[in-house]
Amino acid sequence: MKAFFQEQYGRPATVIARAPGRLEFIGNHLDYNGGPVLGAAIDRGVHVALAPRTDKVIRLISQSQKNLVELSLDQVQPVQGTDGWVNYPLGMLKVLRDEGMSVSHGFDLAVTNDLPMGAGLSSSAAIELAAGYALSSLYNYSVDRKRMAELGRLAENTFVGMPCGILDQGCSAFGKKDHLVAIDCATNTFSNVPMPQGLRFWVLNTQKKHALIDSLYATRHRECMDAFAVLRLKVPSLRDLASADNALLAASGLSGDLLKRARHVVEETARVRDTHAALTAKNVVRVGQNLTASHASSRDLFGNSCDELDFLVERAVECPGVLGARLTGGGFGGACMALCDSQFGEKEANGLADAYAKKFGHRPTIFTAATGDGAAVVS
Ligand code: GLA
Repeated sequence: MKAFFQEQYGRPATVIARAPGRLEFIGNHLDYNGGPVLGAAIDRGVHVALAPRTDKVIRLISQSQKNLVELSLDQVQPVQGTDGWVNYPLGMLKVLRDEGMSVSHGFDLAVTNDLPMGAGLSSSAAIELAAGYALSSLYNYSVDRKRMAELGRLAENTFVGMPCGILDQGCSAFGKKDHLVAIDCATNTFSNVPMPQGLRFWVLNTQKKHALIDSLYATRHRECMDAFAVLRLKVPSLRDLASADNALLAASGLSGDLLKRARHVVEETARVRDTHAALTAKNVVRVGQNLTASHASSRDLFGNSCDELDFLVERAVECPGVLGARLTGGGFGGACMALCDSQFGEKEANGLADAYAKKFGHRPTIFTAATGDGAAVVS
């Protein structure tokens, strides 16, 4: 990072922050429904470096794009097209200023990463969190961890225009090595749960990027809000329906896709709670079964899987050493995550990738990840 910054701007960075990518462990599309979710910050992430300027210019560059973007502090607007990644740091700048951070001069900013972009690991939230910590340090403005995660989500919702919940930013902020991150998204309460020893993740990215991925996500978001509008008189929030209350759902007048979406939210909520309890009881078999059951619910009820993800999950769970597997993140493409013990390694992951390539004509990217620490200023 230091070398890249020096090379680009001809002077050293004065502050560097780092934030990790995340895996969604379980709790698919529950965050914006106010449900419980479990995620993990992983041991790969992004660095954001800054140095102050004396004028009102902002310059931004990323190691993977290499195109310098320049704008004025007085005209911070979302950028369209291939430079769209700048909206993550610019969004953070905007929400931090709205929050009260005083910014009288511009800055040079650079991003480097060891996190594959667009692989469903939320490089966007990692850039938001790293930029948030770097900017607040540069401008001497203090923000606590919870608020920083909330500001990341706010930047994404209001500046980038993606109606996500707080899963990605919450995991990137509250990650802890050897732990998962548990979030109660109704109250934005964060805690860490020990990760079972001896387990790690294998991630297989389908490389399938649905052209409508953002609009499909927004459609599911709207369907959940519509389902909740029907149920509003009976329950304070969708997740307050335990799975035993499926009868109530059936009697609610909901039908078709809205009923399916609501059932997913209800049943997935129960599954997250059960998984949390199984983690505490060190019942890893149960944890794995829940992950795979979560995938089935995303596929059959929430409608956000695809043939490629289904294939990877089906094949993965047949392999010795795979406790469970599921799509991770928004869905409609993106990555499959498998929770594995030491019997499943690189050779087995390559075998899965070969089988996938034979069927779909292209290879998924594969890599392994462990849990890692959350966002922080590092220099
Ligand atoms: C994306 C969003 C998250 C969450 C997941 C699905 O990763 O950014 O907020 O909704 O999808 O659970």
